[in-house]
Amino acid sequence: EQTAIGIAHSKLILIGEHAVVHGQPAIAIPFPLVGVESIVDYVPGPVQINSTFYTGPIESAPESLEGVVTCIKETTSHMQLPCEDFMIRIKSSIPPGKGLGSSASVAIAVVKSLFAFFGEKYTEQNLLDLSNISETYAHGVPSGIDTLTITSGSPVWYEKDEPINFITPEGDFHFIVADSGRVGDTRSAVESVASLLKSAPRRIQHKLDRIGEITHRARNALETASKHLLGQMLNEAQRELEALGVSDAGLNRLIYFARQEGALGAKLTGGGNGGCIIALARNEVHSRQLAEKLRKFGANAVWPFVLRNN
Ligand code: MEV
Repeated sequence: EQTAIGIAHSKLILIGEHAVVHGQPAIAIPFPLVGVESIVDYVPGPVQINSTFYTGPIESAPESLEGVVTCIKETTSHMQLPCEDFMIRIKSSIPPGKGLGSSASVAIAVVKSLFAFFGEKYTEQNLLDLSNISETYAHGVPSGIDTLTITSGSPVWYEKDEPINFITPEGDFHFIVADSGRVGDTRSAVESVASLLKSAPRRIQHKLDRIGEITHRARNALETASKHLLGQMLNEAQRELEALGVSDAGLNRLIYFARQEGALGAKLTGGGNGGCIIALARNEVHSRQLAEKLRKFGANAVWPFVLRNN
C-alpha cells in the first residue's frame, strides 16, 4: 500500500448553535482558512497514531483521542479489514476547542485517508456515519451539523433528521472570526444546555424556539443581501446564547468590542464557553480595520473572510 492522504477543511456555525441540538434550524458555513490533513502509511504491526497530542500505538492513546481511535476502528471494520499495519499522521491547522469543528474535520480527514489507503470507495453517507461516531465523543449528542457542513462545501441550512438544504447568499458578507484564547468544551456546553432544559423546560424551550425564529430571519437576510438585518440577528442570537449560559467573559469582551468598533453584529460561534466569535463587518475595508483592531485588543488569532455566492 502507498501513502494515502485525506483532507478536510473547517466549519463555522453562523447562527443556531445549541438550539440545533434540540431540533431548531442552524446555518453553518464552510471555513476553508484552516483544515486537517490525515496521512496513512504502511507500517507493519499495531496501528500507530502520530498527532500533536500523542504519538504511539492507538491502544494506549489518551482519552482525548478516543473519538478518533473509535473512528479508525469502525472505518476498517466497515471495510471488513483488520485494523493493523498502518500509521496515521494527523496534521491540523484548526485550533481545537475553538468552535471551528476540529473534531469533525479530524474524523472526516481520517476516514477519507483510510478509504484511500485501502483503495475502497465510500459514499457521502458512509463518510457522515463514520465521522459522526467520533463526534459522539466530542459533543455527547451531536446534531450532525459539523460533519455535514464540512463534507458539503456550501453554506447549509440544517435541521436534525431533515434533508439537507443549501443556502445561496446574495451579495458579499465580510466576516471576521476571532479567537478568544480560551479552549471550550463543546460536550460540556451541550450538556449544560440539556440540563437547563430539564430544570426549566418552558423558559429554556422558549429561548431555543426564539433562536429558531432568529435563524429563519437570518436566512432571509443572507438571501436578500440584508447585511444590517443579518447583523441584528447575530446580536439577538448572542443575547439568547448568553441567557443559556454558553458565552463567557472572554467571548463577551471581544463581541462588545467588535460592536463598539462598528460591527453590524457579533456573537460566539460553535459550542461557546471559550473559543471564537464571528463578527459581521460593514464592507471589505471595515473588515480589514476591524481585524487589526481585534488583534490589538488581544484576540489570539483573527481570520477575515468573505461569504459570497460562487
Ligand atoms: C457545535 O459546533 C455546534 C453545537 O450546536 C453542537 C452540535 O450541534 O452538535 C453546539
